[in-house]
Amino acid sequence: MLSHINETAEWLQSQLPRVPQVAIILGSGLGKLAESVEDATTISYHDIPHFPVSTVEGHAGNLICGRLGGKDVLLMSGRFHYYEGYSMKEVTFPIRVFHALGIRALLVSNAAGGTNPAFHIGDLMLITDHINMMPEHPLRGKNLPTGPRFPDMTHAYDPDLIQKALQIADEQQIKLRQGTYLATQGPTYETPSEYRLFRLLGADAVGMSTVPEIIVANHCGMKCLGISVITNVSQTASKVSHEEVKRAADAAQPVMTRLFKELIHQLPS
Ligand code: HPA
Repeated sequence: MLSHINETAEWLQSQLPRVPQVAIILGSGLGKLAESVEDATTISYHDIPHFPVSTVEGHAGNLICGRLGGKDVLLMSGRFHYYEGYSMKEVTFPIRVFHALGIRALLVSNAAGGTNPAFHIGDLMLITDHINMMPEHPLRGKNLPTGPRFPDMTHAYDPDLIQKALQIADEQQIKLRQGTYLATQGPTYETPSEYRLFRLLGADAVGMSTVPEIIVANHCGMKCLGISVITNVSQTASKVSHEEVKRAADAAQPVMTRLFKELIHQLPS
């Protein structure tokens, strides 16, 4: 595992024109931010040694390096999901590589179903905490030297980044909700009873990603921020489809792009 991480990091170093400071992972239907990257170098996951390859429709599968918000960023357009059949080690492999490249901040977006009855389709939710309901833990097995065997998760989402995001949202009149994201393995959306259960457990939104990456990034000492686009809500009895999720995510992209860009701009160099 360690040799693969280092080989991939070394290979990327040889391909990238500069050293990125911030990593960004874009969720389902949220790939547009990539278009704002200036001076972009795009590398297909297929070409990166040891990188898994994304299979889901709507997930591009490119690593994009360039300038965004005045910083050098490395952006994943398309992520690896546990439900696709990848192991948790594969799902979180890119995070380990980002850390080996020297990246110390991670911004993540995803599409999620709202379980908080106050939420509406199209809302953005700043993830302030999570509940991990995935069936396998990404840190299971031999502990890697980036962090302790039993990592603290009190501030899995960095309080300073959360404050910064709230402040930007306030200044730019972006409606930004806050809440707890619960991760399930999928690929089914939830039954009405499951949505109710997750609400009872304390979830404001539910999705099939993000938590493994955030856990590993924390193990690597990276500062993390996550935003969910609420693409469907549990209180309506209507069916959920991938098309509907992609449509709602797509509509939220301009605001999401604005928020991420400004946040990156305000990150310390
Ligand atoms: N559940 C799980 N994942 C999701 C949902 C949902 O309702 N919406 C978008 N991703």
